[in-house]
Amino acid sequence: MNIPANSNTASHLAHAGADSEWESRYQNGDTPWDKGLPHPALVRWLSHSDITGRVLVPGCGSGHDVRAIAQKKTTKVVGMDIAPSAIRAASTFPAVGHESYILGDFLTGDALGLGPFDWLFEHTCFCAIRPDRRADYTREAAKALKPGGFLLAVFFMNPENSDPNSPPFGSSSSELDELFLPSFQKIDFQTAIPTYAGREQLEHLVLFQKR
Ligand SMILES: C[S@@+](CC[C@H](N)C(=O)[O-])C[C@H]1O[C@@H](n2cnc3c(N)ncnc32)[C@H](O)[C@@H]1O
Repeated sequence: MNIPANSNTASHLAHAGADSEWESRYQNGDTPWDKGLPHPALVRWLSHSDITGRVLVPGCGSGHDVRAIAQKKTTKVVGMDIAPSAIRAASTFPAVGHESYILGDFLTGDALGLGPFDWLFEHTCFCAIRPDRRADYTREAAKALKPGGFLLAVFFMNPENSDPNSPPFGSSSSELDELFLPSFQKIDFQTAIPTYAGREQLEHLVLFQKR
């Protein structure tokens, strides 16, 4: 497991535990989001378009998306997660390229010492954080990327269990535009994307470029 160079490990773990239930979900094996495969829309993207250079995957879980991107040998991919057990699980997979996994809180600047990045891939991290922290997400995404860097995102728009008090938290296109367009321009937007069974029509793929 890699630990961010700028962190005190013990306080980091304490903060992670205080901030989320994610670690206990992993410890209890209660991870229904983990399909054992990278997101199908990412797989399709990689089959026809490029992702190159330094790549960050915040909220990487056990790292399926990280490894899919790392198979492109032109990338160096960092998966970050706030849950130590997710990072441990990701680290058990054999390396496929230049990938690494870092314990850290994306919302509080832990990606900064690791970048700047050319690309950021978002998949079920944004919907996992409380809506009142979304401005923190957009700020950190913009800070982590180089000028002109790309944010490729699969946004979970309308989770069936949109309990206002627990993730996954839904989004609307207008809310995403309001949050991201001050720092990014929208390059691509797709609604009919391949996905896992059960998530059909619930996600949008968006490519943003940092201004
Ligand atoms: C719904 S899971 C998705 C995991 C992975 N993207 C996948 O699809 O398998 C959300 C993940 O985001 C992580 N997470 C939540 N808040 C985070 C934060 N502030 N910084 C980094 N990771 C975070 C959780 O620990 C969890 O692994």
